[in-house]
Amino acid sequence: MKILITGGGGFVGSHLAEAFLERGDEVFILDIGPNTKVRHLNQNPDFHFIHSSIFDDAILEGLITKVDLVYHLAAVVGVEHYVGDPHQVLSVNVNGTQNVLKLAFKHQKKVVFSSTSEVYGRNPKVPWSEDDDRVLGSTRIDRWCYATSKAVGEHFAFAYQRMGLPVTIVRYFNVYGPRLDALDVGRVITIFLGQALRNEPLTVVGNGQQTRCFTFCKDAVEATVAAGIGSGTDGQIFNIGTEVESTIYELARKIVDLTGSQSEICFVREESIYGESYEDIPRRVPDVSRMHQVLNVHARTSLDEGLRETIHWFCKQPGSRQRHKQTPQLASVAG
Ligand SMILES: NC(=O)c1ccc[n+]([C@@H]2O[C@H](COP(=O)([O-])OP(=O)(O)OC[C@H]3O[C@@H](n4cnc5c(N)ncnc54)[C@H](O)[C@@H]3O)[C@@H](O)[C@H]2O)c1
Repeated sequence: MKILITGGGGFVGSHLAEAFLERGDEVFILDIGPNTKVRHLNQNPDFHFIHSSIFDDAILEGLITKVDLVYHLAAVVGVEHYVGDPHQVLSVNVNGTQNVLKLAFKHQKKVVFSSTSEVYGRNPKVPWSEDDDRVLGSTRIDRWCYATSKAVGEHFAFAYQRMGLPVTIVRYFNVYGPRLDALDVGRVITIFLGQALRNEPLTVVGNGQQTRCFTFCKDAVEATVAAGIGSGTDGQIFNIGTEVESTIYELARKIVDLTGSQSEICFVREESIYGESYEDIPRRVPDVSRMHQVLNVHARTSLDEGLRETIHWFCKQPGSRQRHKQTPQLASVAG
């Protein structure tokens, strides 16, 4: 098969590209970012990296005509963007998604759209199954722009489905692993890890009792491949994750223990990092029965196992014990 992965130069896309190449498929990546996370694939004749945007109609359409299946992962991701540049989040995640769907519809190519657990917002009734309510805060609170942008993307996907386009939606729950983000930036695991490797205090935002279900990339990718090529997936939404819940404090503790760090764990008020209007989500837990039943995938990697592999990979990177960013460290737990 020929596969297009928009945003394939990012963390999840790089692992998805590897998985399809291992199956013997041909992979095209379209990404505006650097190719750092996929350059180890350059020698493979079935791998192609196209450095361009999902807003470049000519390039995007040329790629869509070539492939059998489109994975749309390109997006602006990360709490620092939700609160720092909501315009960029909304335009890429809404207008860019519409562009991909429009051209995929024109050429009748199935689209797998990568959405997020954030769409459930702060619905207190966990675990969340795919058709559960979304409970979001005011539009004055920028942190909800990402959840909203992804939900609009889902609505667009279903609108195109009604017109005849096969679509599948995957909602990821805090996927992590090698190549996640650079140490010290991005998501909670890479921030804690950067701090632990330098024996600096791990800065937990809030009281550390908020929970997440951390999903190892290998498990998420297995489910993502199945969502694209398996039967009975068209028109479906799948939660992709594990139901094993960990508090952010437990995560910090594990990272300290597994790295053998001397770091202490300290707590910072979320308002001091994200501003007065930030709202965190206390618990985020998926119901993964549909993933088990339809995709036949179980996320079996334990947090200890996945963290060990992630830590091992980061420790092998040059300069892993140097500080990468001078700004206060945010522990982003979006996903
Ligand atoms: N990793 C997670 O835990 C998680 C959780 C929920 C949802 N998701 C979704 O999965 C997808 C992949 O996430 P990720 O963790 O790999 O993030 P990532 O930031 O590593 O990857 C996103 C990629 O999109 C690219 N991109 C941004 N704008 C683009 C444009 N205009 N044209 C082409 N490429 C563009 C970026 O350069 C980046 O490489 C995203 O859609 C994200 O919303 C991920």
